[in-house]
Amino acid sequence: MIDETCEKISAPVQLLIQKLSERRTYRPADIIQIIAACDIKEEDLLPWADFDHPLQDSYGRKLVHKSPNFEIMVMSWKPGDISAIHDHGYTTWGAVQVFGPQEHAAFRVEDDQLFALNRTYFKYGQIVGVGHSLIHQMGNYSDKNVLTLHVYGLEEDVNMVTGEARLYLPERGEIQLVNGGVFFNLPSHEVLETIAGPVGDYPTNLRNRVESVNRALVAGSSSADVQPMLDKILDAHSRGSLLQHIEQLVNDDHHANDSARWNVLNHELKAAARLVSRESSTSDSFHSYAEMYDHLICQPCLDQFITGYLDFVVDAFEPNWAAKKIFSLGCGTGLVEQHMMQRYSIPRENLYGIDFSASMVQEAQKRIHADQGDILTLDPQLGKWDVAFSGLNVFQYIHSTQLEEAVRRTAEVLQDGGLFVGDFITPDHIRWYPNVMYSNDRQIISLRTPRLIEQEGKMYQESEIINIDFRSGHMHLNYAGKHKRYLAPLHRVRGYFEKYFSREVRLFDALSLREISGDDDTCQSTRYIVVARK
Ligand SMILES: [Fe+2]
Repeated sequence: MIDETCEKISAPVQLLIQKLSERRTYRPADIIQIIAACDIKEEDLLPWADFDHPLQDSYGRKLVHKSPNFEIMVMSWKPGDISAIHDHGYTTWGAVQVFGPQEHAAFRVEDDQLFALNRTYFKYGQIVGVGHSLIHQMGNYSDKNVLTLHVYGLEEDVNMVTGEARLYLPERGEIQLVNGGVFFNLPSHEVLETIAGPVGDYPTNLRNRVESVNRALVAGSSSADVQPMLDKILDAHSRGSLLQHIEQLVNDDHHANDSARWNVLNHELKAAARLVSRESSTSDSFHSYAEMYDHLICQPCLDQFITGYLDFVVDAFEPNWAAKKIFSLGCGTGLVEQHMMQRYSIPRENLYGIDFSASMVQEAQKRIHADQGDILTLDPQLGKWDVAFSGLNVFQYIHSTQLEEAVRRTAEVLQDGGLFVGDFITPDHIRWYPNVMYSNDRQIISLRTPRLIEQEGKMYQESEIINIDFRSGHMHLNYAGKHKRYLAPLHRVRGYFEKYFSREVRLFDALSLREISGDDDTCQSTRYIVVARK
């Protein structure tokens, strides 16, 4: 059976209708194969393109063909268009082919909770199967219009294959039954019935709030109108549910035990951070990474290993720092340097720090003498120093091709007999690196997703960082981007120092302080110190 629009139907779509009419039921793999074999092109869908759909509709929706047991539809997605979370009514088999980038999320209901199994991006031409149990959401996050082809079917004849589709409202714990489009914020007169449904988990509810704002903006609401909705996203009361959700996803060592759900959480927080930084009037007051750095990284590292290795170096290599001139390369916020001044009675005028980051230096200047500066352009006018210190693997943020130059320049600013001490991470540091870090009071939460990457024959650890700060009574979201560190082999680091520090070069595990032999590729704590005498 061909409907009245048949004159618009191109040969590949006709072929699809013919093939789908041959049987009553299909497995997802079969249907994907059939669609792929028909080789349907974007231009075949153009007669049903509907990019002028009403603003309150989540996307354009046109019927191409209706058989007694299956339907073919074309959906039109403008930038920012997104469906509600939904299933497909009576459908038991089907598929979607996308002709442009689409974000796709699949959901599962478990213990009365609705959560995203994954969020992925579909590529042009990709086909995905649809079954009766599929709960999903699609959206267009590109800046182009996108068309998608949809096939829905079941074994028996039915009046409307996608009739009584379930539309999930995760925050309200409700399901709306609908016979039309599965639109976001569907008006109540288009809802057949509302029944109790699963409640969304933290990321699902967060995303729902973010999309509510996005849809309101698409429908013409002003930034001022959506401010109460933004405030709801940034409500500090969500801290408890966020912490609870994180605890479900990580083990005792703070490593994520479900990478798919970990990625979903990060994905939704990034979407929220993007929206908030674009729309919120409070975005200017966001705490910068520099301000959070001490609470999250520096103080814990100082407590866990820096204090220990500094005492070790002072005892074993260079006593009486009170009388020494100390130069800190990459001083960050100056917290470690302040600790050194207090612990070893170093007069303030004897210690000086530089850092590449202006915001870090701004923090450091509250504690020590510090200026913005780069190890690679060290000014010889700064004079000769007795001790050069470089904490928290600063040298590994330097480009791999310039690490040797950094070591050479460091040697240059030291007196003959001067000492370098600094810590580094081993190439396998990722096995220790946690996915979540907290400030001591848990008011700041930092999510980290590290990955190993190779570039031009060199290995790097790249960590994507999202910081969430509740100290002000609101949730401040800071997407700190990706931080890349060069995972230089230990023997290469040792070799560079041996070249420019002729008297002595020794490597120690930064925690156990056990010496690392020239044959070793790593050490137990995955952090080590280099002690080098010029
Ligand atoms: Fe769908």
